[in-house]
Amino acid sequence: MPESPEVSGLTPRSIEELTQAAVQELEGLSDQESLEAWRVAYLGRRGRLTLMLRGLSQLDLEQRRTTGALANQAKRTLEERLERRTREISEGELARIGLQDSIDVTLPGRPMALGRLHPTTQILREICDAFVAMGFGIVEGPEVEWDHYNFEMLNIPKGHPARDMWNTLWIDYSNEAGEQPMLLRTHTSPMQARVMEASQPPIRVVVPGKCYRYEATDATHEWHFYQVEGLAVDDGITFADLKGTLYEFARRLFGADRKVRFRCDYFPFVEPGVDMSIDCFACDGRGSGCRICRDSGWIEIMGAGMVHPRVLAGVGYDPEKYTGFAFGLGPERIAMLKYGIEDIRLFYSNDLRFLRQF
Ligand code: PHE
Repeated sequence: MPESPEVSGLTPRSIEELTQAAVQELEGLSDQESLEAWRVAYLGRRGRLTLMLRGLSQLDLEQRRTTGALANQAKRTLEERLERRTREISEGELARIGLQDSIDVTLPGRPMALGRLHPTTQILREICDAFVAMGFGIVEGPEVEWDHYNFEMLNIPKGHPARDMWNTLWIDYSNEAGEQPMLLRTHTSPMQARVMEASQPPIRVVVPGKCYRYEATDATHEWHFYQVEGLAVDDGITFADLKGTLYEFARRLFGADRKVRFRCDYFPFVEPGVDMSIDCFACDGRGSGCRICRDSGWIEIMGAGMVHPRVLAGVGYDPEKYTGFAFGLGPERIAMLKYGIEDIRLFYSNDLRFLRQF
């Protein structure tokens, strides 16, 4: 039987050749548009393979069976190859932009874990803000300190029994100049002398910072903790300034109707020295059966006093000309009172169940 022009190419060999050519072309393609053009060219309604298959009807029965099977096989091959190549290209594109296996854009977003400020940082800021609002500046000083500033300059000479008030962590230190006693500061008061040495009155500063003591810990004692020191020095500062400033501070932190109480206390670097209490905010000063103030109606919140003339003279100020007041308070204790925290050790034990509450 003579072959018609349309089916002249329709032999097992031409099918094989067409398939090979198509597959080879397909492997060279690298984007979805050219894949689609390839599909139309070979498998589309007027595609080369489609037209070839159409010619099957003109073959005799025997040829149609063998060639037809081959042609159908070729069609499946091209379809499978197209599908595989489509998948390869889209995976390649994802990999190129780095998203393969890493992001499923259809998933709902994960909430971001936001950090927060440590409760000590929060209370330190609150305390400092209260003094900044009254015109105080903020300075910081070294935690590793000389005996000279921690004690000597504060009117606590070697061998003075008042040194026992501060259980000290000493540091072994010596240089060419010999031994100089070094320690971890037991309070922020050494900054009184450092600030006065470095500047001239009028002085109004608060000093937040870490302190260390050689002490056994319990619910109200830590071996490391913060203090906020305060110092105001000028011509004509009186005890009334101390009271007014600290009263205002107490009201800012603990509420406008707080009362304050000053009682005599001893610190070698102030004269007179006091401790300051606020009336208990938990029982409104009634005192009976109150856990916070232990039945007294009052809560001690800091030590304070007028800067000792010897301390002023020590930094070269004329105590006849200048006077000043100083105070020192424990922010963890303030936070414990304010937020009802029962154990000071919670501040530095890194327990997220505690920290997340603030
Ligand atoms: N530095 C003292 C202490 O640690 C507190 C204090 C500071 C007292 C300033 C008076 C004046 O106990």
